[in-house]
Amino acid sequence: MFAQPIATLRRDGESLVILDQTQLPWRVVERRLATLQDVADAISTMQVRGAPLIGCTAALGVAVALAAGDTDDVALNHALAVLRATRPTAVNLVWALNRMDARLRPLPFDVRREAAWDEAEAICAEDASICEAIGLHGLNLLRTLSVRDGRGLRVMTHCNAGWLATAGAGTALAPIYAAKANGLKMKVFVSETRPRNQGLLTAWELASAGIGHTLMADNAAGWLLMQGEVDAVIVGADRIAANGDTANKVGTVLKALAARAAGVPFYVAAPLSTFDAAVPDGRAIPIEERAAEEVLSVEGLDGEGHPRRVRLAREGTCAANPAFDVTPATLISGFITERGLIAAGDLPEFLRGIQT
Ligand code: MRU
Repeated sequence: MFAQPIATLRRDGESLVILDQTQLPWRVVERRLATLQDVADAISTMQVRGAPLIGCTAALGVAVALAAGDTDDVALNHALAVLRATRPTAVNLVWALNRMDARLRPLPFDVRREAAWDEAEAICAEDASICEAIGLHGLNLLRTLSVRDGRGLRVMTHCNAGWLATAGAGTALAPIYAAKANGLKMKVFVSETRPRNQGLLTAWELASAGIGHTLMADNAAGWLLMQGEVDAVIVGADRIAANGDTANKVGTVLKALAARAAGVPFYVAAPLSTFDAAVPDGRAIPIEERAAEEVLSVEGLDGEGHPRRVRLAREGTCAANPAFDVTPATLISGFITERGLIAAGDLPEFLRGIQT
């Protein structure tokens, strides 16, 4: 089983300790979340981020809220509503909160506190096992690709869908970790992922694991794909509609379009909790619009090694900042899930099967 080098989140008594991802890749800082508001703020400011990890954190957030206050339906409704409002796109958040609701609501008030911790910790443990399964199914896929190719495999990814984004090994990076553990030679192209630069988190993860990688500007993806430099693209997902349209970090659809033009397979790795059968297609997926400031400035280290935010654009410049985009199912070769690889065309039938 993959062991996270540093826990992305853990219970400590009646509070949580998270790895603050806004400080990475420069500093490793853990932060204690002792109240419902602490947990909600950590999710909305992206101290914790990545769809599965957001779900795990929200579930634990319900336990934190009940531990610190009342456990009646008013308190439960309040905790669920506050956490639900933190970020709109990743459906894992709603999925985890619905699961907490279904487990806790029928219980007498006096046993809800302990049950909340148990259920939330079960969600986290399951997430780690799910990542492991995605890794193994993805490894089988990578093996077929590398056999076909006959040399070290070159995979492109976007954003961060590694262990930092989950309670386990990750989703898109899980097959890469499994490949490394099984001696497959590979190289990973990591796109910077402006404006929040989650690609730097991916580069940090891969460097720590000793996996060869190359950081590239987001705009380099099309050229590298068209030049035949990439054998496969694997990304994570925040919400997958019933028809397979997939919301993921903004910039994903450009890679999918370029991959299709270049004849390179494009895979989405995600747990079943990321599939939203209630949403028929990508048009109904809510896309988070974040602060313009994220686009207008950039953060890095200054000459003394201190993190600094510097302004890029002139005062008064308008900026659009959609945090996600939707890749049409027609551009996706397959979904790597804990149940195996699902061809995009088979998805509607697969989803009907798991609902019954
Ligand atoms: O805004 P973020 O950093 O939470 O967005 C994360 C992504 O888009 C990831 O690619 C996705 O959640 C998959 S994480 C396993």
